[in-house]
Amino acid sequence: MHSGFSRRSLLKAGAAMGIAALLPRAAAAAAGDGPVTLTAGEMPHLLPGCSEPSRFWGYNGTWPLELRVRRGQPFAAVLKNALPEHTAIHWHGLRIPFAMDGVPYFSQDPVEPGQSFRYAFTPPDPGTFFFHPHCDTVAQLGRGLAGVLIVEDPRDAGLFDQEQTLVIKDWRVRKDGSFREFSTAAGAAKAGTFGNLRTVNGGAAPTIVVRPGARLRLRLLNIDLTRIPMLGLRGAERAMVVATDGNACAPFAVDGWRLGPAMRADLALVMPMREGAEAFLEDIWSSKPHLLARIVTRGEAVRRDPGQPLTLPAAELPEPDLKAAGRLDFSLLAGHEDAGLAAWAKENGGGLDDLCLTRQVFWSINRQAWPGMGPGLKADPLFELKSGRSYVAEIFNGTPHTHPMHLHGHTFKVVGSTEEDVRPHWCDTVLVRPKERVRIAFVAGTPGDWMFHCHITEHQETGMMGYLRVI
Ligand code: C2O
Ligand code: CU
Repeated sequence: MHSGFSRRSLLKAGAAMGIAALLPRAAAAAAGDGPVTLTAGEMPHLLPGCSEPSRFWGYNGTWPLELRVRRGQPFAAVLKNALPEHTAIHWHGLRIPFAMDGVPYFSQDPVEPGQSFRYAFTPPDPGTFFFHPHCDTVAQLGRGLAGVLIVEDPRDAGLFDQEQTLVIKDWRVRKDGSFREFSTAAGAAKAGTFGNLRTVNGGAAPTIVVRPGARLRLRLLNIDLTRIPMLGLRGAERAMVVATDGNACAPFAVDGWRLGPAMRADLALVMPMREGAEAFLEDIWSSKPHLLARIVTRGEAVRRDPGQPLTLPAAELPEPDLKAAGRLDFSLLAGHEDAGLAAWAKENGGGLDDLCLTRQVFWSINRQAWPGMGPGLKADPLFELKSGRSYVAEIFNGTPHTHPMHLHGHTFKVVGSTEEDVRPHWCDTVLVRPKERVRIAFVAGTPGDWMFHCHITEHQETGMMGYLRVI
């Protein structure tokens, strides 16, 4: 047996829905239970191949922590900061009010060591989400500070026989478990600084045991800061991507789908009816595939209706009106016209909290590099949008690297690309390859300053971020 995950007692909600959940150290947070406490602190975690535990940062001493909430039910969490530096929680991909967005100096004050902050919101959309800090992210997330948030959809009941969350993340560690520097200038100025140890759920590639003929839902999250795996799946009777960034989509083939940092994919698998059948989920980006998970069948076969479609209930999101949409243009560029950084550094010099500020700038959006935020510091918005109005944004990548671009507080539809025929799908993070122009469409959400940035965090933290102001 591998040690990456262990069988847990069934969650109340899961059991009620008839889902046999085999979850990595799950923590249920059902509505009505009162606020969940999330204590951010250091915790030991033994990574595969290391002689000593690494000094992870995590929530509640569990890695990866998984919270399960219900769509449309109020949720509250109190973040307690037991770390030596300030932090906050950004609820990635959730369409929630700006005050809950978790960006220090921007949507809230940083939560200082020993302090706490209460988040409360009602998740409007079901799906596979995650949460993470938003300053010093390269180091905080580099040490593991992130958690999984599953927003359950009561309409999913009975669709799957089993489900499993798979959190993909690399680590920069030495043999003795100590962390190496999380960022290098050479990496930040190129494709990012890669980890040297690859894990799923903090361990070696897990083996998932299911019954012959089972329908399995895999909730995949890439919370790495840098790597962009390309998914491949072989051995299943059927396998489809059924949700992108948590949002149900028209099912499409798994093979070749690229999952950039912060991106999620829900896969639906139907396993062969025989005992001992094996399926393999791999990263097939390089010529030598890298195993992410193995699925084997054991026990009594599942009785199933062969005609049952492999789809999730449709996403219910505001549909942009493409004809009436306003137009936004973004250019992702290397270098910048240095208006902000030099001036800020000069005027505000010492005394600044540099957890949220960078000293080096390599990237920009529309030639504006945003070096970060601090007390009283704020760049100008990239655009001003009207709440409720539709927009089409074209994102052009003028750099030699691929960028996973994320917009806070919105779920957008990818509607076009100059490099391939896209199947329109909803997401909150989209890959833009070199020279590509990707078109996304969305309805401007609730008022706020919504960040738009690359989720290769070193790119974000060295200039490739900005924000859209919705009024
Ligand atoms: Cu998951 Cu601003 O990010
Ligand atoms: Cu990038």
